[in-house]
Amino acid sequence: MLEIQNITISFNKSSKPAVENFSLYVKPGEICCLVGESGSGKTSVIRAIQGNLPVQGTVIQGDIFFEGQSLLRYTANDWQKVRGTEISMIFQDSGAMMNPIRTIGSQFVEYIRAHGDYTRKEAWGKGVQMLERVRLHDGEHMMNSYPFQLSGGMKQRVGIAFAMVFQPKLLLADEPTSALDVTTQAQMIRQMMKLREECGTSIIMITHNLALAAYMSDHIVVMKKGEITDSGDRNHILHISQDDYTKKLLSAVPSLGGHYDV
Ligand SMILES: Nc1ncnc2c1ncn2[C@@H]1O[C@H](COP(=O)(O)OP(=O)(O)OP(=O)(O)O)[C@@H](O)[C@H]1O
Ligand SMILES: [Mg+2]
Repeated sequence: MLEIQNITISFNKSSKPAVENFSLYVKPGEICCLVGESGSGKTSVIRAIQGNLPVQGTVIQGDIFFEGQSLLRYTANDWQKVRGTEISMIFQDSGAMMNPIRTIGSQFVEYIRAHGDYTRKEAWGKGVQMLERVRLHDGEHMMNSYPFQLSGGMKQRVGIAFAMVFQPKLLLADEPTSALDVTTQAQMIRQMMKLREECGTSIIMITHNLALAAYMSDHIVVMKKGEITDSGDRNHILHISQDDYTKKLLSAVPSLGGHYDV
């Protein structure tokens, strides 16, 4: 599915790379969470996968394979074909990606028609259906709403609906829930897990919340200063790992570590 082989990402030749020797193998339908302190390189890894590093950033070593093809060798045309359909992305603030003066429906129809061969009516129906699947109950009403009429949680769900409409093989999510309250966060995570079950989508998600990562992931990767410091399944991270940094992150989660000393 996705195989990242020993990549190093650099923004500036003279300084230490932002990410060094990062490898990851993601199977179909697997959920992998990247955790680690600010600046540890999580976003850089996700942006490298989606071929969208800031201009100064380059993968100077290693390779990234998606379904056996090197994503680093994808042309703009290749990306056009897979982005939004086979590989899609949920952002931290989906509302910021929307046009404030156009309805959700007009933007969703445009998005669906840009990525697939649908009439306006078919695209509308597909949009309504998808919004209802992410539990925005009155899909028609939602389609006719403007972004400012929706709460933050609703906008994030619209973001998931966009990202999932073509049942991508790979979903990349950079802190998709960190702007939400705990209840909405939990609902959104359940939604993503449900879609993974229904569509077999693999998910790579960044989160600062190790408890959340442990709850939803098959595989957790802990990063610090551009390197992987620990990795494994939930049981490994929660109970087996002897890594100091992992333990420190765990002790910062009250419900898991039981104390607040970080
Ligand atoms: N556009 C850029 N230009 C130069 N350096 C950058 C750029 N983006 C990121 N970096 C550097 O890459 C490193 C990793 O940053 P990255 O954004 O990947 O971290 P992160 O783990 O996502 O952090 P956060 O949790 O704060 O989002 C940092 O040292 C940062 O300074
Ligand atoms: Mg980041």
